[in-house]
Amino acid sequence: MGKTIIQDKLNRPLKDLRISVIDRCNFRCQYCMPADQFGPDFEFLPRSALLTYEEIERVAKIFVKLGIEKIRLTGGEPLLRKDLPSLVAKLASVEGLKDLALTTNGVLLKKLAGQLKSSGLKRVNVSLDTLNDKLFGKINGRGVGTGPVLDGIAAAQQAGLGVKINMVVKKGLNDGEIISMAEYCKTNGIELRYIEYMDVGSTNGWKMDDVVTKKQIFSILKDRFELEPVNTGYYGEVAKLYRYKDTDINVGFISSVSESFCSSCTRARLSANGQIFTCLFNGIGHDIRNFMRNGATDEQLEERITSIWNARIDRYSDERTAETNKNRKKIEMSYIGG
Ligand code: GTP
Ligand code: 5AD
Ligand code: SF4
Ligand code: SF4
Repeated sequence: MGKTIIQDKLNRPLKDLRISVIDRCNFRCQYCMPADQFGPDFEFLPRSALLTYEEIERVAKIFVKLGIEKIRLTGGEPLLRKDLPSLVAKLASVEGLKDLALTTNGVLLKKLAGQLKSSGLKRVNVSLDTLNDKLFGKINGRGVGTGPVLDGIAAAQQAGLGVKINMVVKKGLNDGEIISMAEYCKTNGIELRYIEYMDVGSTNGWKMDDVVTKKQIFSILKDRFELEPVNTGYYGEVAKLYRYKDTDINVGFISSVSESFCSSCTRARLSANGQIFTCLFNGIGHDIRNFMRNGATDEQLEERITSIWNARIDRYSDERTAETNKNRKKIEMSYIGG
């Protein structure tokens, strides 16, 4: 089966697919799903609304035919979805897919890392914003210490999965943790990515003042470490990478606020209930679940996905201003998986 490369209105090819498999999470990170907004009465999607693994596999195959090479599973917390390794196994056997990864809070990795690896997962990105237990408990909104996440990271490494750590940096919250996180990751041979706090959704109370920029983080790091830039040559890479001199350990920055990267954004997002979103900040989803359940053929699905991508003009982070932030219908990060 030949591959087609499709492009959007700004000539960006479709290359990556992020699939959210569930909208629930066992954490309530204050920058993502604040506990006061996502309380016990919050209505998450019912099971029947979620795409089945067979449906996800079917859509993934069509996306691969349309040129995507990388799939990332996200949530909410993807490891909360029952028997995720069986979905991994289905996706790992899709011909033409080069990379299969997972973004997780790590808590269930201790239990699942081995199974995920043997099902064909290549790597995991684990969210961890501090090594301080008390602060971590405050950030995750559930009082959970770092122990389960660190155990999960160790289990993933032991299982032979690639591991990166994502640290969202918020001013006055965990900007004092920049060096300790770097030390920990360097010692353990893990790539750490510092992420600028973003204005996703409408529940996290984002203010520009809360953002610690790549430049600010870099200047703190370079006082302690000697860093040299790394060119991955990978089109669509969201992180700017550096290497600790005389090592092969990278450290990266995801500067979506201060230095946006929309001009090379190749990512489509599939929500847990089967809607395609063409930007993390575009609240308008395009249904394909009901389309499939109503009997669409593979050709019809292929046509629909192609026309959604062909019409894409999103470049929210390039255009971000206080005004666009106020007036836009946005989608919650936890819903779409980042
Ligand atoms: P790699 O394949 O390992 O490079 O992963 P990734 O960085 O693409 O994915 P991950 O889920 O680890 O996301 C890291 C951070 O980058 C999160 O804060 C995401 O929300 C952010 N991010 C990922 N893709 C985009 C994007 O297209 N736009 C913006 N603005 N942020 C993104
Ligand atoms: N800004 C930036 N990154 C965020 N994440 C969650 N909420 C935000 C936000 N408001 C990160 C998580 C996870 C990734 C998928 O997105 O920490 O690592
Ligand atoms: Fe859950 Fe990840 Fe959001 Fe934290 S950032 S609440 S772990 S989905
Ligand atoms: Fe892509 Fe939208 Fe993020 Fe820009 S803001 S990089 S278009 S997802």
